Formats: sequence, C-alpha cells, structure tokens
Amino acid sequence: QSGAITLDPGYKNTGSCESAITFLDGEEGILRYRGYSIEELAEKADFLEVAYLLIFGELPNEAQLQKFNTDILDQSIVNEDMKTVLKGFPETAHPMGVLSSLTSALTAFNPKSVNVDSEEDMYKAIVKILAKFPVLAAWTLRKKNNQAFYNKDTNLGYVESLLKMMFQQDANKTYKLNKTVVNALDKLLILHADHEQNCSTSTVRIVGSSHAGLFASISAGVSALWGPLHGGANQAVIEMLEEIKADGGDTSKFIAKAKDKDDPFRLMGFGHRVYKNFDPRAKIIKKAADEVLGQLGVDDPILEIAKGLEKAALEDQYFIDRKLYPNVDFYSGIIYRAMGIPTEMFTVMFAVGRLPGWIAQWREMRLRKEPIGRPRQVYIGETHRKFKSLENR
Ligand code: SDX
Repeated sequence: QSGAITLDPGYKNTGSCESAITFLDGEEGILRYRGYSIEELAEKADFLEVAYLLIFGELPNEAQLQKFNTDILDQSIVNEDMKTVLKGFPETAHPMGVLSSLTSALTAFNPKSVNVDSEEDMYKAIVKILAKFPVLAAWTLRKKNNQAFYNKDTNLGYVESLLKMMFQQDANKTYKLNKTVVNALDKLLILHADHEQNCSTSTVRIVGSSHAGLFASISAGVSALWGPLHGGANQAVIEMLEEIKADGGDTSKFIAKAKDKDDPFRLMGFGHRVYKNFDPRAKIIKKAADEVLGQLGVDDPILEIAKGLEKAALEDQYFIDRKLYPNVDFYSGIIYRAMGIPTEMFTVMFAVGRLPGWIAQWREMRLRKEPIGRPRQVYIGETHRKFKSLENR
C-alpha cells in the first residue's frame, strides 16, 4: 500500500555482517577477542599485544611483537604542518571534534595510504595510524591547555609515551610515570579495544567499504563515537554524577527523571543494545576503580555516588524490567579522573582504545573484498502523485 518493499534476504550489506574478530553474548555477558576472554586479556596481556591479536588474529610471539612495535615507532613522527591545522581550532573546540579532523587530515600528508589494496600497503597504513593517532590524541589535550605539542618518546612503551605526551610539563624535565596509572590505562584501553558491530565500528566499515581509505574511515568512527549515546557517555556519566553530588547526593531524583517518559534524561552509563545482563567490561572496571583510587590515594566522593546509583537502579523495577545494567562507560570516567585526565578527554581515551578494533574490522572488510555498504529501507512515504503547480498548492 505505502510502497513498502520486502528485503531480499540475500541482499548484501543490509547492516549486519559476518566477522571473525569479536564474539559477544549479551545474555551471558561474554566478550571474547579472537576467542580469548576479555577477563584473561585484561589480566595477562598488554594493549599492543591485544591490538596485534585483533588485527592479525593471533597473539604475537616475541619476534612479531618486537617488529610490530618497531614498525609503529618508525612512523610516530607527525608532520609539523599538522600543528598548523591544530592551531586553527578555537580553544573551546571539543577534543573529539579536533581528533576527528586531525585524523582525516592525516590523509593529506600520507596520500599513499588511501588506495591500499595489497596486504603490504594495508599494513603500512595500519602502523602509520597506530603510531600517529595517540600523538594526535595527546595534542588535543595540549591544545585545550595551550601547551607545547611533543612527539612520541620512542624509548617508552605505547601507553607510557601517550601519558608523557599528554602530561609532560617541560621538554627538559624528566616526566615521572606512575606505574599504577600506566597499568590501569593499559587495562582500560584493552577493555575498549573492540566490540563487534557497534555504532562507530559499523561507521568505519561502511565508510571503508567505499575505499575512502583507512584514515578517513577512522575519522568517521571518531565522530560516531563522540555521541553521548555511544562513547560520549563516559563524559556524560561524570557530568551526571557531579550534578547528583551538587544536588546533595540524592540519587532517587535522578532515577525518577530517567524513568519519566516526558523527560529526555537517561541514566548515562546504563543500558546496552546487546548486553541484557551485566557488561563484563563494567564488572572489571568497577573492581579496577576501587584498586586504582586506593593505590593513588584518591578519595573521590563520586565513586560512592556511582555505587549508590547503581544499587538503587538495579533494585528499581523499571530498570529490572528493561534489563538495564551499568555498561563500560559507567565507571571508566572515575578512573580517568583519578589519573588526572580531564572529563572532555574521556571519549578521546575511548577512541585510543577502540582504534585497533576499528582497524581490525576495516582490514577484515577490505581483505574479504566486501561490496560497498548500501543498507536498504522499508519505504513508508507517499505513493506516486502528480505535480501541483504553485497557484494550486
Ligand atoms: C557504548 O553497541 C556497543 O557495543 C556500544 C559500546 C561499545 O563498546 O562500542 O558498548 C559502547 O556505547 C555503551 C552505551 C553508552 N551509552 C549510554 O550509557 C547512554 C545511556 N544508555 C541509553 O541511551 C541506551 O541504553 C543505549 C543507547 C545504550 C541503548 O539503547 P537501546 O538499546 O536503543 O535501548 P532502548 O532505547 O531501546 O531502550 C529500551 C527501554 C526504553 O524504555 P521503553 O521505551 O521500553 O519504556 O529502556 C529505556 C528506554 O527508554 N532505557 C533507559 C536507558 N536506556 C534504555 N531508560 C533510562 N536510562 C537509560 N540509560
């Protein structure tokens, strides 16, 4: 009647895809990267090993990890002119908007990284963006703080050099790394590394399917992740907890607001499209929050508010009926805050963690020579009608 069509079940790229990278079981709260459980990887591996695993499908041996690390370090210098692009932004620019723009600008300085059809050329583009993305991420913070932009210290590990580029006060003074912060950030990046076909990953795959190149695809993924319903939730959670604290710490008002259909407010960090039981990452991060704040000697009242809010929501019938549990974003911001990372940078940290997953999914799609993404629709608009001249409208 309305011109609706039935989709040919065999129609390619109707929005779902086959992938061998990450397995999720939303009912059982299971998350595995290439078959390895997230709990084991978060405990026993480091971020670069997990990046290699996601992208190439196997945990690297010593030689493979060494070469991967060296190839990345060899690409870690970012073109000086990128600083000119960066300086053009107002200081009020959100770091995620700056990061997305800088990532896309990488294409201009690395044109050979666009039309990559061979595995070898893909690998070159992959190590380039793994090397330069954390530098750009750190520069978004330096830009906000009106500080100098440093390149990577190639004597440090992946996470250590990121922290140094973010927080080093003076090029001539040694930067003292805090092992607790390094280990906690490494674990958080692992927990964020991939999550099958979420909003930003689907964006990377569909932009990549037009052969726009890896950097443009990642830039699009950064923009998708920015939204408060997606990666931007980690910033929104802290803003919500701060509001509860400023309001005297009474969580019941916010629970009531979240349940009110006439109020657009949602409990940030709660609910998930796939997990209809607990988010395994949230469990690990909640435990890590206690440990990290204890080790850093940080007594942050919003951790107790978060725990109180979680308890109240999990006992509330509205949340129980809708199977709404804390997700990866609910506790992560509390750890970032304890590390001294500003709230506006939380989603940038999510992007740094998600980068290997985006790369892995882009590579899988390109190696499988998947056709251009072209989801269809069910048309629900007007049926055919004749044109009406202006005087008759
Ligand atoms: C991430 O997909 C991924 O894998 C994402 C991610 C990843 O690693 O890539 O896990 C990362 O994005 C985690 C999610 C971060 N976002 C938030 O925390 C924002 C708050 N959460 C919600 O906006 C929501 O839960 C979503 C967006 C996460 C999921 O939305 P859905 O699956 O579309 O849920 P829905 O809108 O269909 O909600 C079902 C019901 C609705 O009520 P009814 O209309 O049935 O009465 O649950 C309600 C919703 O109103 N609901 C909430 C709620 N989330 C859902 N009510 C209050 N607070 C919430 N947080």
